[in-house]
Amino acid sequence: MAEKKKILVTGGLGFIGSHTVVELQHEGFEVVIIDNLSNSSLEVLEGITRITGKTPAFEKMDLRDKAAVSAFFANHPDVSGVIHFAASKAVGESVDQPLLYYENNINTLIYILQELRDKGESCFIFSSSCTVYGQADELPITESAPVKKAESPYGNTKQIGEEIIADTCNVHHGLKAISLRYFNPIGAHPTVEIGELPLGVPQNLVPFITQTGAGVRKELSVFGGDYPTPDGTGIRDYIHVVDLAKAHVVALQRLLHGDNKENYEVFNVGTGTGSSVLEVIKSFESVSGEKLHYKIVDRRPGDITAAYADTTKANRELGWEAKSTLDEAMRSAWAWEKKIRS
Ligand code: WQD
Repeated sequence: MAEKKKILVTGGLGFIGSHTVVELQHEGFEVVIIDNLSNSSLEVLEGITRITGKTPAFEKMDLRDKAAVSAFFANHPDVSGVIHFAASKAVGESVDQPLLYYENNINTLIYILQELRDKGESCFIFSSSCTVYGQADELPITESAPVKKAESPYGNTKQIGEEIIADTCNVHHGLKAISLRYFNPIGAHPTVEIGELPLGVPQNLVPFITQTGAGVRKELSVFGGDYPTPDGTGIRDYIHVVDLAKAHVVALQRLLHGDNKENYEVFNVGTGTGSSVLEVIKSFESVSGEKLHYKIVDRRPGDITAAYADTTKANRELGWEAKSTLDEAMRSAWAWEKKIRS
């Protein structure tokens, strides 16, 4: 039995982080989670344990504490890789509080990379976002599409983060890294033991839809019905969070096995299919059997018209593709909503 490699997952109690911890444990990795619980809860650790039967090691820590980050790596010299989710991610909040975002999303990244640089050999997976493309000129979007000026400090932290990693890998060749540019993660684990925690008013479409379906919200506001799309509403690439989690495991294994072609690589992680807001609403109504209350209002400032991934590179290089349909992802999101309201 190959010795178990230990993987650090920062933000491992968050939405995508927790689903990735489950997949890492399924693959036989030993997981240690760092999370500051600012946007998650310890109940998620119990949910992970109920799914896999194994409780990951957990350390409550704020990664802005450079000394604490150094002490962690001194105490865990056997960490083979890091998957870095921990970051603030609310687009609107980032506009109001840019320095909070630059401190929390950039300083923490630098502190971790400094430790990995000093370790010599290590593997690093970065949680990036299709938001780096802005409104791409061509659809579907490939990894060679130009990175455009970010619409928000949040999006800028992803762009800056990628550049910091690329520059670091360029000189410290023991560090191998992959940035995964997520499209729109939705859904919940099929066991309904973990999902997206509803903290505050949802900014994202699918949790707002399921909360409206559950009667928590009165009605959904559809932000814009006059986009240049077939039905006038915005188009996105909605990917099941478990498919996204699995992409992290295959990306990590690519680096651990030395299969990477460059020291720093970037992959789009989406389904390759675009769905409009009205199509997402129709999916909810079909899987729930409920009519959704919604009204079409003005566009949301900063929104793009359409984005969906060209997944050729991830399919070819990672041997990965998204398996779940929009309806399957929506069904899991609705099951989760009903569970947390029961
Ligand atoms: C999707 C579509 C909205 C809410 C954001 C971040 C991105 C990533 C994913 C972190 C759009 C419409 C939404 C609502 C609506 N986050 N909508 N009514 O904006 O594509 O991406 O979340 O990495 O970085 O930018 O996702 O779910 O907010 O919006 O009509 O109440 O749903 O206009 O067309 P978005 P979203």
